[in-house]
Amino acid sequence: MQSKVANPGLAAAGRLKIEWAEARMPVLMALRARYGESKPLRGMRIAGCLHVTKETAVLVRTLRAAGAEVSWSGCNPLSTQDEVAAALAAEGTSIYAWHGMSTEEFYWCIDKTLELKPTLTLDDGADLIFRVHNKFPELAQGIVGGTEETTTGVHRLRAMATDGALRYPVYAVNDAETKWDFDNVYGTGQSSLDGILRATSVLVAGKNFVVAGFGHCGRGCAMRARGLGANVIVTEIKATAALKAVLEGYRVLPMDEAAKLGDIFITATGMKDVIVERHFASMRDGAIVCNTGHYDCEINLKDLARLSGERTRELRPNCDEHLLADGRRIYVLAKGRLVNLAAAEGHPSEVMDMSFANQFLALKALAESKGALQAKVYELPAAQDQELAALKLKTMGLGIDVLTPEQVKYLDAYAEGT
Ligand code: ADE
Repeated sequence: MQSKVANPGLAAAGRLKIEWAEARMPVLMALRARYGESKPLRGMRIAGCLHVTKETAVLVRTLRAAGAEVSWSGCNPLSTQDEVAAALAAEGTSIYAWHGMSTEEFYWCIDKTLELKPTLTLDDGADLIFRVHNKFPELAQGIVGGTEETTTGVHRLRAMATDGALRYPVYAVNDAETKWDFDNVYGTGQSSLDGILRATSVLVAGKNFVVAGFGHCGRGCAMRARGLGANVIVTEIKATAALKAVLEGYRVLPMDEAAKLGDIFITATGMKDVIVERHFASMRDGAIVCNTGHYDCEINLKDLARLSGERTRELRPNCDEHLLADGRRIYVLAKGRLVNLAAAEGHPSEVMDMSFANQFLALKALAESKGALQAKVYELPAAQDQELAALKLKTMGLGIDVLTPEQVKYLDAYAEGT
């Protein structure tokens, strides 16, 4: 086992964080208990590239308990929780991750995990799988399959599959209903606001809060900002999404208009150049700008550096002030990277419980697939969503109704009408 972490001495603190998460992830813990003996991942070598958080540690422990050998890196230079990385290293996981790494170090860490010669890959944002395809293509033949956690990653992998460039099957974990309809909405909504509050401690009530993108993540952010009393403005490029935002009661404007009004901006689009020079040029003094999309290209920080002549200072942790020539100040949180993971702790454990239960079951399905899958992007079975949701409800002490046989018959009846 090899690893490189910021400070191995943080392991004890990391273990406490993981213990906290385990107590809030009963579905994943049930899978650990269920498969701890039969070990369906025995013989599998998993390279993972996903935010090193206390919740991820619960997943890693579960994969190892099910028999897998694991090598891990973080999928964002600012999201690693150093205590957690230290705890994982101390218990024998091969892990290469520390907070604040450079881009070169980021890829070095991924490459180190690939020394394991994985049979399975797990991605959040597809950097690992791209690395296999572009730098180590010879590894692909030994890989049974991969999983992808996030919307952006799935989108790109589908493009790869369409072009015939994908070399092995991938499960789109993001597209499971028990992932996107919970993690993306409630997880992103809460953790992004958490990040903004930890970085700024501003009052959200009464502020103009601009949400760029009304997909699931944007919807979650808008919902939670409104809950704190903000006037939410949504910007969109898709007519149906914009219409949904309008009917939810939000104001919808093009970014050119919203830029002049916003006090706080958050990008959640998966697209680059959502906030660019002309937007910064028209923003109010004191505007706060952040991103919760996977990549850090949604806010064009080069444009801002040009406008500010790089007159920048870190005013608070994760909060950089950029001083423009006319004296206006713009605050960028977490250097334009995922504000929820860089400035806070990511999504709460309760919601990652289901996302990572899906990850576990996807990897198990790949391990058991015995070559039956093609090099395509696959969705997880819909029945799995119902099973996981039912298990989650049970752990919450909640029950639901069951159709009677007469009701089932009624559903399918077509002989009679009204
Ligand atoms: N993505 C968003 N929140 C996360 C968390 N808590 N752990 C891992 N990945 C995440």
